[in-house]
Amino acid sequence: MTTTTLKFRRLSKALGAEVLGVDLSEPPDDETYEALRSAWLEHQILLFREQHITLPQQIAFSRRFGELYISPKKQRTEFPEVGVFSNIKKNGKYIGQPPARTGDGWHSDLFYMEKPATGSLFRAEQAPAKGGETWFANMYAAYDALPESTKQRIDDLRATYSEVKSWNVIDPELIPLTEEEKRHYPDVTHPFVRTHPETSRKTLFVGMRGSQCSIVEGMSEDESVAFLDDLRAFATKPQFTYCHQWRPGDAMLWDNRCTMHKATIFDDSLGPRLCYRTTIAGDVPY
Ligand code: SIN
Repeated sequence: MTTTTLKFRRLSKALGAEVLGVDLSEPPDDETYEALRSAWLEHQILLFREQHITLPQQIAFSRRFGELYISPKKQRTEFPEVGVFSNIKKNGKYIGQPPARTGDGWHSDLFYMEKPATGSLFRAEQAPAKGGETWFANMYAAYDALPESTKQRIDDLRATYSEVKSWNVIDPELIPLTEEEKRHYPDVTHPFVRTHPETSRKTLFVGMRGSQCSIVEGMSEDESVAFLDDLRAFATKPQFTYCHQWRPGDAMLWDNRCTMHKATIFDDSLGPRLCYRTTIAGDVPY
């Protein structure tokens, strides 16, 4: 694989590009990697089609973009680097995180950690022809479009988020976290405006599923919820978003530092959805 075979096609006005001419079954050489990294920084999400690869191949490709995050939660594959997202059930239990857990809540991955994720590579092995889409939103564009008064208001503002409190609020059917898991998720405080460490651009950072378990500095719980709901509603207006309907073999590499995403809850009768995510570890936002 060489860079001469690479082509990019925009996915939407808001963000994203499809990459043509890349085979994810092997890690890219230096030249290809540099071209992909700079396209990723420019387009924020990159789509690779027809990538029918194995989990070790997905891990090896993702690792080229940085160290991978390993979740303390019990993983559903033999590879601790891989998270499973699926509506498939075995013996009455989901084999991975169902869309009900991640759906309907805009977020960026690991926003509830001190060091949220840099990026994620999400690959669909099975996907229904309709339903199970993932939405993406461009947080540079959202920040740029904010009224000047809001920019000034949020410039030094921060919110504290509790993953432990939110765990069963978002999905009451989840097995409660163990004490050991809870220790892995202390409450974290992040700025609303962060500077992308590679592009130096300012971007809105409101990657929290729901608003219930976040507290904005100087606000009551109710004020926080209303404030976050408003900010997130602004950030996810149609002009900032792209909706991706997955095909088996699609792989999307997204930049969590300048985008948000959300899954879609859908009727299981539309068909099975089986996706694998590798997550690139990140830094403390500033
Ligand atoms: C995620 O939030 O990383 C999963 C997105 C999806 O299932 O579409």
